[in-house]
Amino acid sequence: MLRNATHDASVVTVEFDTGTRTRFHAIWLRDNALDPETRAPGNGQRLITIGDIPADISVSAAEVLNGDLNVTFQPEGKTVTFPADWLAEHTYDCDRNRPLGQTAPGITTWERGIEAPSADWNEVHANTAAKRGWLAAVAEYGFAKLTGGPTEPESLLKVADLFGYIRETNYGPYFEVRTEVNPTNLAYTGLGLQAHTDNPYRDPVPTLQILYCLENSAEGGDSIVVDGFRAAEKLREQNPEGFALLAGYPARFEYKGSDGVCLRSRRPMIELSPDGELIGIRFNNRSSAPFVDVPFDQMEAYYAAYRQLGDIIDDPAMGVSFKLEPGESFIVDNTRVLHARLGYSGAGSRWLQGCYADKDGLLSTLAAMDMAQPEAAE
Ligand code: FE2
Repeated sequence: MLRNATHDASVVTVEFDTGTRTRFHAIWLRDNALDPETRAPGNGQRLITIGDIPADISVSAAEVLNGDLNVTFQPEGKTVTFPADWLAEHTYDCDRNRPLGQTAPGITTWERGIEAPSADWNEVHANTAAKRGWLAAVAEYGFAKLTGGPTEPESLLKVADLFGYIRETNYGPYFEVRTEVNPTNLAYTGLGLQAHTDNPYRDPVPTLQILYCLENSAEGGDSIVVDGFRAAEKLREQNPEGFALLAGYPARFEYKGSDGVCLRSRRPMIELSPDGELIGIRFNNRSSAPFVDVPFDQMEAYYAAYRQLGDIIDDPAMGVSFKLEPGESFIVDNTRVLHARLGYSGAGSRWLQGCYADKDGLLSTLAAMDMAQPEAAE
């Protein structure tokens, strides 16, 4: 509820019944008017362009009516109601001095010691709250396990069906991570893999990866996940100049390992939004290309920061490890969480299938569930 509203020609100041005061510009309010001539009632899409708003838009009246805000705009002579709750949700008159590299609200960074978020296959299929909790864990922590699933090939496609769509790539709709013990080709050894994000040479990168276990009777082969955002936070604390270098210059990534494929990207290892929010990590030794966008006199410091980030990522105190059983899978946010594999040996076999999907689709499914059942949202 609003308690009071004052205005001049270009700014409306409202006071909520909590005592909070906040300002809105005339042009902002007019652009975001909620009336049916400005917003299509059915789909909520805007019906006007920026050019349809008079350049000399101004406020001639602003008053509180039934706890909401009524604003009259000139020269249109148009009066529009803004609900108090809507204004509270969309306030922008706030402190912008957030430190460089802050994570977005709703993100919780972690390291070894947290219990891996996990949900049960049958429950997420039968129970909306269980499905919501599983998707919300991916949003908050960047990974989540799913246990108790079938052991038939292509079951991973059904995981993606729960929230969105497979993202097909040059590797196909999905790929085999099948490694026989005592193989004839080194590509199919049981060697460990350093924690990495997948496909940094793609632009945009696949934003989710699903890895689904069908067989895992070999000794070892544990999966490890590392929070790249926590690693970046640690680098920022230990070496802020190094953090700024990895965020401030593009790295280069490349893959041309199969016929007809030559993927290249020019993107930073630590990606920040224009206002400094931490939004992505790319880290993959196997597909790094020569870095040629770092100034000569910064290259050694850049490499030192790269090494330091690698040391943080490799630190056993960072990784959460688990051994997938047949019918178990996990999702990682490939823009944030790195995955690794321990080496393995002995009798038995290890067969995983992997695929990519889109994080925006998962977040959309989650947000739509919360709109349909707001009481389920935290
Ligand atoms: Fe991978």
